[in-house]
Amino acid sequence: MILSFAPMEGVTSCIYRSVHAACFPDADRYYAPFLAPDGSGKVKLSALRDLLPENNPRGLPVPQILCNRAEPFLALSRELAAMGYEELNLNAGCPSGTVVPKHKGAGLLLDLDSLDRMLADIYSRCELKVSVKTRLGVESTAEFPAILELYDRYPLAELIVHARDRNGMYRSTPDLNAFSAAMEHSRAPVCYNGNVLDRRSYNVVMSTFPALDRLMLGRGAVTNPALFRILRGGEPLAANELRDFLDRLCGALRESGVQEHHVLGRLKEVWYYVNHMFPGADRELKRLNKAGTLTDYRAAVEGIFASGRFEPAAAFPGALPKSGG
Ligand SMILES: Cc1cc2nc3c(=O)[nH]c(=O)nc-3n(C[C@H](O)[C@H](O)[C@H](O)COP(=O)(O)O)c2cc1C
Repeated sequence: MILSFAPMEGVTSCIYRSVHAACFPDADRYYAPFLAPDGSGKVKLSALRDLLPENNPRGLPVPQILCNRAEPFLALSRELAAMGYEELNLNAGCPSGTVVPKHKGAGLLLDLDSLDRMLADIYSRCELKVSVKTRLGVESTAEFPAILELYDRYPLAELIVHARDRNGMYRSTPDLNAFSAAMEHSRAPVCYNGNVLDRRSYNVVMSTFPALDRLMLGRGAVTNPALFRILRGGEPLAANELRDFLDRLCGALRESGVQEHHVLGRLKEVWYYVNHMFPGADRELKRLNKAGTLTDYRAAVEGIFASGRFEPAAAFPGALPKSGG
């Protein structure tokens, strides 16, 4: 089973990925949050820094590109190849209201003819392996068979399916029935993504699709960073290792030279998920949200761990249907 850490913009930066890999070395792959090149394939230096090999000492992630034309994709792919990358991922899933109207992310699925032309160009000219991370559709998961038929014309290195349509954003219940078309017909190796948040949801997906051998975990793994180990049959998360992970993350963010308020912002972003491991610690978590300095932050973290509310079986909230029906 190949278990991948999903790209999460604003959360799974190179610093997060490196600290996670050091503390919880059970993820097979990390996908980096999207790069959004301009028309000539240029991206901000700060975005490229996230992918510099020296900033990814525990192994290179798979970079992801968000664009709607082959040219910028190909130009950026050459730059990434020169940095040592061998595989790229195309984002066909971002549901954001600022992205979709530009026919990027899940907006690529609005016009399959144009996506077809873009993929034809990319797959005939890109020297790197290219995988796709897709939604099941824009308005409806019923769009998926036509989308899948299009992907099947190209040699995708992998087809990662976030089993929702764009309208479902991150809230709708993943549609396992619609996803099953990928298991039945895709020529490319298929990776399932969406609401695998704990052992129970993992079992639902695996009992529905016993042949599935690739899973991508996002919010569940940020909430419980030991989730990869747990799904492989390992020990549950212990409070002290979560504490150690968060302390190391705080230290690494500080050492990176980022300003204190940015460090705080990034840590709070992580706590937006981790807070679910402490059900009922509302007062202590509120204090963390209000922290204006790292000193306040550390005191709040101390209070959260001292509250005795840590619940190793807790998870990010989210549902999956009991079967593929
Ligand atoms: C805050 C946030 C940022 C995300 N950033 C990206 C991204 O950069 N690229 C991408 O393909 N998906 C992105 N996603 C989607 C996740 O990779 C994943 O597909 C989604 O969260 C569903 O998986 P999960 O239920 O395991 O979280 C993001 C999701 C969230 C919540």
